[in-house]
Amino acid sequence: MKVLLVGNGGREHAIAWRLVQDASIQVICVPGNGGTATLPRCQNLPLTQDDFEGIARFCTVNNVALVVVGPEIPLAAGITDFLQRKNIKVFGPSQAGAQIEASKAWAKDLMQAANIPTAKSAVFTDLPSARAYVETEGAPIVIKADGLAAGKGVTVAMTGNEAIAALEGCFSGLFGAAGEQVVIEECLIGEEVSVLAVTDGETIIPLLPAQDHKRIGEGDTGENTGGMGVYAPAPIATPEIMAQVQTQVLEPAIAELKRRGIQYCGILYAGLMISPTGNLNVIEFNCRFGDPETQAILPLLETPLHEIMLACVEGRLSTFGPLTWKSDVSACVVAASGGYPGAYKKGLAITGIAEAEAQDSLVFHAGTYQKKDVLVTDGGRVLGVGAIAPTFDAAFSKAYAAIESIQFDGLYYRRDIGHRVRSGS
Ligand code: AMP
Ligand code: GLY
Repeated sequence: MKVLLVGNGGREHAIAWRLVQDASIQVICVPGNGGTATLPRCQNLPLTQDDFEGIARFCTVNNVALVVVGPEIPLAAGITDFLQRKNIKVFGPSQAGAQIEASKAWAKDLMQAANIPTAKSAVFTDLPSARAYVETEGAPIVIKADGLAAGKGVTVAMTGNEAIAALEGCFSGLFGAAGEQVVIEECLIGEEVSVLAVTDGETIIPLLPAQDHKRIGEGDTGENTGGMGVYAPAPIATPEIMAQVQTQVLEPAIAELKRRGIQYCGILYAGLMISPTGNLNVIEFNCRFGDPETQAILPLLETPLHEIMLACVEGRLSTFGPLTWKSDVSACVVAASGGYPGAYKKGLAITGIAEAEAQDSLVFHAGTYQKKDVLVTDGGRVLGVGAIAPTFDAAFSKAYAAIESIQFDGLYYRRDIGHRVRSGS
């Protein structure tokens, strides 16, 4: 069976890696990266993610059974609707469904309509009224560009001045059309956890909860990034919390989507904040697998991934049965380019991956490129180095030992990923 996978990040390397573990599966990545290029039964296809016509033509001519869409941008641009019109099966929501990530104001409206717990917020389209709201509410306060901004559109402002500066940035076009509308939100405190669920628009099955580390600096300091490391399953998401996520977040969200005429198929990702007293709030929804959460979650998944995805696209998740997981835990540490999330160099030679892999680790490529015989850096987050083991201490020891074998100029990683679950940290 042929699966076409759209995307070129660490998340897509992990998805492709898990799919090809089943010998019946062949994966075509559009465009893929240096990691997917070397997987067995996997090839990279040099089309761009926005070439819907080219992707459809390839699928039809080559009998592709399933398209899996990794990133949010093609989903928000309607890749699913386009391919479905050509009778191609797609794991990933329609353009209407992808609004749950592509417009924070739309997602907030959905949460309010469905009575899903979330921070108090207001939406603005002009600077003077947004500023007046910040002055009334006071800091800390969170400013969010409404649209997709590659994780850079959110400012957790500790002072009023910081909040006003963020508003000025949005309304002066820093994020283009994504910042024409701004959501201002109450600042939540607590511990974050990502719960990704698979759904066919009726039945919802959560994957293991994961905890990402968004900040660039150790001690969770500095700028927000796409994610610097992750572990799963996150103990903060106790069975009681997971039950609440199911009944108070995932089920009402899918029901409200359905009420709006949207049969949502794919991953629904709830980014949650758990307060010190155990209260749950949704920070955001995403319409896709998390990156790097996927790199920690999929190594623990025993159920064949393509079977889950096909059950979703064929609307038969209710009869699919429970997912099975390894009893191990999983850790993943991101190796980033020096300077990230600001400016960084590309094209730097990477060495030591084979040595890292020989230490029982999993090296997922996020921003790499195979340039003739040399693997070079091609992004801010370059690699995700992961490991599974019976305990978090053992999994992180393996991941950190492996990452030390890898070299490229300016390589940076946080040494405290998993500090909440490792002993002695
Ligand atoms: P988002 O893109 O909405 O996930 O926001 C990026 C990050 O900003 C989140 O992972 C949180 O760390 C932080 N954040 C977003 N909204 C809030 C909030 N209301 N309170 C506190 N932190 C937030
Ligand atoms: N790890 C955060 C995200 O995928 O949005």
